Amino acid sequence: MSTKTLTLMPPLVLLLLLSSLPWLTMQDPDLLMDYCVADVSRTPFFFNGELCIDPSLVISNHFFTSSLSKQEMTGNIFGSNTTTTTTKNLPGSNAQGLTMARIDLAPGGIVPLHSHPRGAEVVILIKGTQVMVGFVETKENKLYVQQLRPGDVFVFPKGLDHFLLNLDGATSATAIAGMSSQNPGEQVVPWATFQSMPNIPDEVLEKTFKVSAQDIKRIRKNLGG
Ligand SMILES: *[C@@H]1O[C@H](CO)[C@@H](O)[C@H](O)[C@H]1NC(C)=O
Repeated sequence: MSTKTLTLMPPLVLLLLLSSLPWLTMQDPDLLMDYCVADVSRTPFFFNGELCIDPSLVISNHFFTSSLSKQEMTGNIFGSNTTTTTTKNLPGSNAQGLTMARIDLAPGGIVPLHSHPRGAEVVILIKGTQVMVGFVETKENKLYVQQLRPGDVFVFPKGLDHFLLNLDGATSATAIAGMSSQNPGEQVVPWATFQSMPNIPDEVLEKTFKVSAQDIKRIRKNLGG
């Protein structure tokens, strides 16, 4: 919209248009109160977010969790482990539009290509020597990649495929992440592609990646399927 069109608009229309912009940005819904501490005992109850408990019953502990304080086991095929806050372990985070995560990487470990459809992510490396992070944008499949040392921060824009790789083969690494949704979602490329339930038909994968049925079988086997 040009400046000219804007100045020609009646002020009321302009005001309505501007005040409707937050809806267009598709973020988690805004709160109408200070907090809405999740009442997870009442699930399953299908609702956008969680029901809240009576505000007079809220205590400090609802806003506190130690669930990211421990180093997690990384003895799996990728050599990484991610723990996140949820409305269960941190009920006070309900409706605040955020999630925290702890990412532990074994020496040489990787958080394989994955995306969060509903949240941007910002990571800070707190332990380790050198971790490579990167994401691919959607316009030209351009790769943005960076090497992080402790204290360095990197942003993965919302919904884009990204990864973290511990370049140090001798030292483990830990990063802390924040995400801009209480339910960012996660789609892990290898799992979604080769281990969906039921499996994506081989023919689709063969034609998608220009490989043989044997190649698909080998990848599925390597992933533990
Ligand atoms: C992550 O670590 C926890 C314990 O530290 C373990 O129970 C869990 O199985 C691990 N997850 C993966 C994917 O290795």
